[in-house]
Amino acid sequence: MNILVIVGVLVVLSLSAVEGNWLFSSRKKTRSPVIFVPGNGGSQIETKFNKPNTVHYFCAKTQNDWYNVWLNIEELIPGVIDCWIDNVKLYYDKATRTTHNSPGVELRIPGWGDPFVVEWIDPTKNSAGSYFKDIAKALYDMGYERNKSLRGAPYDFRKAPNENEYWFKDMKKLVEDTYDQNNDTPVTIITHSMGSPMTLHLLQNVSADWKKKYIQRFISLAGAWAGSMKAVKVYAMGDDLDAFLLSGKTMRAEQISMPSLAFLLPNPLFWKPNEVIITTPGRNYTFAQLKEFFTDIGYDIGWEMRLDNLKYSTNFRAPEVEIHCLYGSNKKTVEMLQYKKPKVFEETPNLLYGNGDGTVNSRSLEACTSWKPLQKESITAVELRDSDHMSILADQRAIDYIVNLMKEEI
Ligand SMILES: *[C@@H]1O[C@H](CO)[C@@H](O)[C@H](O)[C@H]1NC(C)=O
Ligand SMILES: *[C@@H]1O[C@H](CO)[C@@H](O)[C@H](O)[C@H]1NC(C)=O
Ligand SMILES: *[C@@H]1O[C@H](CO)[C@@H](O)[C@H](O)[C@H]1NC(C)=O
Repeated sequence: MNILVIVGVLVVLSLSAVEGNWLFSSRKKTRSPVIFVPGNGGSQIETKFNKPNTVHYFCAKTQNDWYNVWLNIEELIPGVIDCWIDNVKLYYDKATRTTHNSPGVELRIPGWGDPFVVEWIDPTKNSAGSYFKDIAKALYDMGYERNKSLRGAPYDFRKAPNENEYWFKDMKKLVEDTYDQNNDTPVTIITHSMGSPMTLHLLQNVSADWKKKYIQRFISLAGAWAGSMKAVKVYAMGDDLDAFLLSGKTMRAEQISMPSLAFLLPNPLFWKPNEVIITTPGRNYTFAQLKEFFTDIGYDIGWEMRLDNLKYSTNFRAPEVEIHCLYGSNKKTVEMLQYKKPKVFEETPNLLYGNGDGTVNSRSLEACTSWKPLQKESITAVELRDSDHMSILADQRAIDYIVNLMKEEI
């Protein structure tokens, strides 16, 4: 952390202390309650099903009680994973421009309001499924209470904002309830990855008075503000989640069915139309030619899903609340795909890398700074060198920064 950041934090702290005294002089000072907003993959998912058919004879056809499927380690093994994919995969309906589950499968996102479901994505607390747990622990150690001053706002991250409109309403209500239950104290929202643009869209859509009353600050970790080239890579070859013996190709079937992946494609406000993003010996694809890439890999649906959510990406109005934008850097992050043969999709492309946190490109992580001239509320960008997209959640520098901000009573 450089000296400017420290000075910035001190100024922000003293200003908000003054404002707090003036506004709420009759109320006992309290720490700002916190709500966690997870990113793509950061919520638990439960399923039950009664399926007309299955992909393998060994896949279960019925499951009567709700049970956790997301990052359930037992299911993420070769072969068995095909059953898993069939249970969490989405199908796109071109007529309604919405998605649905495999026939006979019901899914739900458990634990609305409860931080536990975003501290651990895997309820059995397998270490691979830990999420906000280290930040939560630091807050509990300071006296935060689960379900009262620390809350969680999970959502069906398979879907993009257009199909998660209910979340914006529920989240607004959760902020209001959390404020009420904490002695009328404005709330701090802590987000990760896709949770940052989700929260941005909430804040763009509420009045300035509402924000002044209910929001203390917005702390974003590894915000995928402007999408990522990694999404293009996943369409091309899938992602093995760096896990176990998973094959990217197998995971791809599930991953590309998620509209959230289309929402996380690079944002046209931050990628130039003539920028080459995919090269082949025969032709290149510029960013403006992304649609042709979807046609050539035989997945036009991906492009349709992008169109459904472009209005969210291209609305980049400043959120007009105090922002602390923490992100990693100095990690190899996909910048371009390079095919050796003329026809895309007949082979796995080479990846050319640039700077970022290993998942999200620097220009997207840093996009929060573009609001600096556009809002009066402070924006503090904190680059955490060598932190990657997931490890930032356990990075002591990030935890110390958050603890330091949250110590203050307002
Ligand atoms: C938090 O709330 C959830 C859902 O209402 C409940 O299941 C859980 O037991 C609560 N946890 C604590 C520690 O109170
Ligand atoms: C924003 O507000 C409009 C009008 O109230 C509503 O139709 C829309 O769903 C809201 N969008 C979000 C992202 O909350
Ligand atoms: C593709 O782009 C690369 C890198 O920008 C460039 O060197 C190459 O000449 C281009 N190839 C074609 C076929 O346009």
